[in-house]
Amino acid sequence: MLSLSDVLDARDRVEEVARRTPLEYSHTFSELSGASVHLKLENFQRTGSFKIRGAMNRITTLSAAEKEAGVVTASAGNHAQGVALAATRAGVESKIVMPKYAPTSKIKATRRYGGEVVLHGIDYNEAQSKAREIEREEGRTYVHAFDDERVMAGQGTIGLEILEDCPEVETVIVPIGGGGLISGIATALKERDDGVRVVGVQAEGASSVADSLNKGSIQELDSVDTIADGIATRCVGERPFEVIRERVDEAVTVSDEETAVALTYLLERSKTLVEGAAAVALAALLFRKFDHDEGEVVVPVLSGGNIDLNTLTTVVMRGLVETGRYLKIRTILRDRPGALENLLEIVADLQANIYAIQHDRTSRDIAMSDTEVVLDLETRGEEHVEQLLSALREHGYEVDVLV
Ligand SMILES: Cc1ncc(COP(=O)(O)O)c(C=O)c1O
Repeated sequence: MLSLSDVLDARDRVEEVARRTPLEYSHTFSELSGASVHLKLENFQRTGSFKIRGAMNRITTLSAAEKEAGVVTASAGNHAQGVALAATRAGVESKIVMPKYAPTSKIKATRRYGGEVVLHGIDYNEAQSKAREIEREEGRTYVHAFDDERVMAGQGTIGLEILEDCPEVETVIVPIGGGGLISGIATALKERDDGVRVVGVQAEGASSVADSLNKGSIQELDSVDTIADGIATRCVGERPFEVIRERVDEAVTVSDEETAVALTYLLERSKTLVEGAAAVALAALLFRKFDHDEGEVVVPVLSGGNIDLNTLTTVVMRGLVETGRYLKIRTILRDRPGALENLLEIVADLQANIYAIQHDRTSRDIAMSDTEVVLDLETRGEEHVEQLLSALREHGYEVDVLV
């Protein structure tokens, strides 16, 4: 099983290219959660996520002949960029198989880091089969994203940094996809100080770990569905699972809505952009998915910041809805002059700002003497939403909340 000395050995190799990312105390999240929260900002890592650490440790420990033959991997996301940059820095050629429909921004970034991108298949599984074929045909080494001890050891260097920067740490919260990240971090932490608690977090729509731990063997999901694409994995790897069983204290899940709220708070209050897979760690704390004491020193690992703008827009909108900052309502008015004005007066009196308004007389669902109005509103939080809805209902409007 992975040991502390593997992680310590990885350190110099990782530091050749990876940044030592900051660990920052957060007043906002400490206040919101009651814990003493220090954020490990791995979203500021080179290539935008922690993946460069494991990739670097794997690639620099290849033999001269293996380096000469090059590496190959399959990834639709962060691992692609980590492997591309690590290989380039180690003077090794890399081929990265990405699904045909991988986001253009990720394909471009992988090329920019020096990887040769091969577009193949419609999803990760098809890309992976192609990468295995290239491995066999070209004699390249396959760099697994998580089921590899040197990759896990590289990711574990985050644990060493946390202990050095915050020796009083009591709980570390880590996202789980294939389990490489948490197994590395848990090994570094527990072997140094077994009093530190390690909590793993998965998305509800991709959560196999709690079940696997209960049953004592890896359980694979038939499908996954989450906005946290970096951790949308059907099961953890064998090597990570061995470590998780031994060294991870709890595995919890968060919903996509909770992830969206955490991500939106991070942007708004800490000016910190993370991707869904990273926001789950903070979401687990804010939504009390595990018990903690008042003032407990907690470190959520914000594992990456690579989120495309379309996804970000959707997630932030959901975050605003969940926190009562965006409201879409539908009501029916008599189709007569002044009816809309009366409605808008109530909205204006309560200082809700109107983003958009639809006024429709043609809907088949309403009487011919009526008109349907849909309002998109900017609101100030859940209390404000309640005030507005009560005021409208008190004035006799029937209101449906659409989002
Ligand atoms: C941003 C981010 N966080 C967390 C993870 C989970 O890491 P692991 O698959 O090693 O569990 C990933 C995996 O790709 C990721 O990209």
